[in-house]
Amino acid sequence: MKGILYYFSGTGNTKWVADRFKEEFGLNNIDLKLINIESLEEINMKGYDFLIIGSSVYGKMQPKIVDNFLHRLPITKKSIRSIVYSTQGASSSAAISVIAKELEKKGFRVMIQSSMKMPNNFYFASGKKPSINEQKEMLKNAEIKVKNLTSCFLENRELKEKVLFPRILLGKISARTFRKVLPKLSRSITAAEECTKCGLCLRNCPKNNITFENGHAIFHSKCMLCLRCIHICPKNAIRYKGKKISQTQKETINCLSLSK
Ligand SMILES: Cc1cc2nc3c(=O)[nH]c(=O)nc-3n(C[C@H](O)[C@H](O)[C@H](O)COP(=O)(O)O)c2cc1C
Repeated sequence: MKGILYYFSGTGNTKWVADRFKEEFGLNNIDLKLINIESLEEINMKGYDFLIIGSSVYGKMQPKIVDNFLHRLPITKKSIRSIVYSTQGASSSAAISVIAKELEKKGFRVMIQSSMKMPNNFYFASGKKPSINEQKEMLKNAEIKVKNLTSCFLENRELKEKVLFPRILLGKISARTFRKVLPKLSRSITAAEECTKCGLCLRNCPKNNITFENGHAIFHSKCMLCLRCIHICPKNAIRYKGKKISQTQKETINCLSLSK
């Protein structure tokens, strides 16, 4: 058996969970290929027996990049078994249900849908800053969850977290609003004087939205607010609304394969 996991991860949480799935399937001698959807040219399901989709949550729903991926995903006639997971700051999200529905429309058979509480990378806009201990606890719980989900899947048992219709509706409205205000929110990102123009943010921005002009980092209008630039900056020089942000993603950001 061979599986493929497509993910989007701005600051490492979703990739961290993907790595745990890879480990867990590996322990069962099952190969799981992980693919980042950021710069994906072709979606090829040929030769894979199962599919996993992992997404972060922005404004209560999956980011647009995941929607675009789902639209491009080819239809299957083979009822390929699938797992959908999300990572978010809250305990759960309606995004899993929406992603699962999209997969089912394409002929996939969703066996597992699960949302995992992970450190909130946007705590400075909403919620509260996760302490180191809270972060460790969240990662431990997510790891246990991945183990359980993997055994359920391998035993061919369905496990779909219920999401009530009003929550889905609210999520869709919230995501629409978020996408509308996104250009305004993303204008809140600037580089402070500490910026050494090392180019790490520029090389790793999923939207190629950053350039250096006349000795300054310029953030253009394609930003999706994934916050990678803020959390990876070696000088912590990237500000949100002029404020210095505590880089809380240190536990997970290193699992992204960053261009150095
Ligand atoms: C722009 C933005 C919006 C977010 N909105 C939500 C939200 O509505 N609900 C939530 O629980 N978490 C929200 N979060 C937190 C992230 O979903 C969470 O930290 C996620 O695990 C990040 O995954 P990543 O590190 O793979 O990018 C948001 C994060 C960002 C950057």
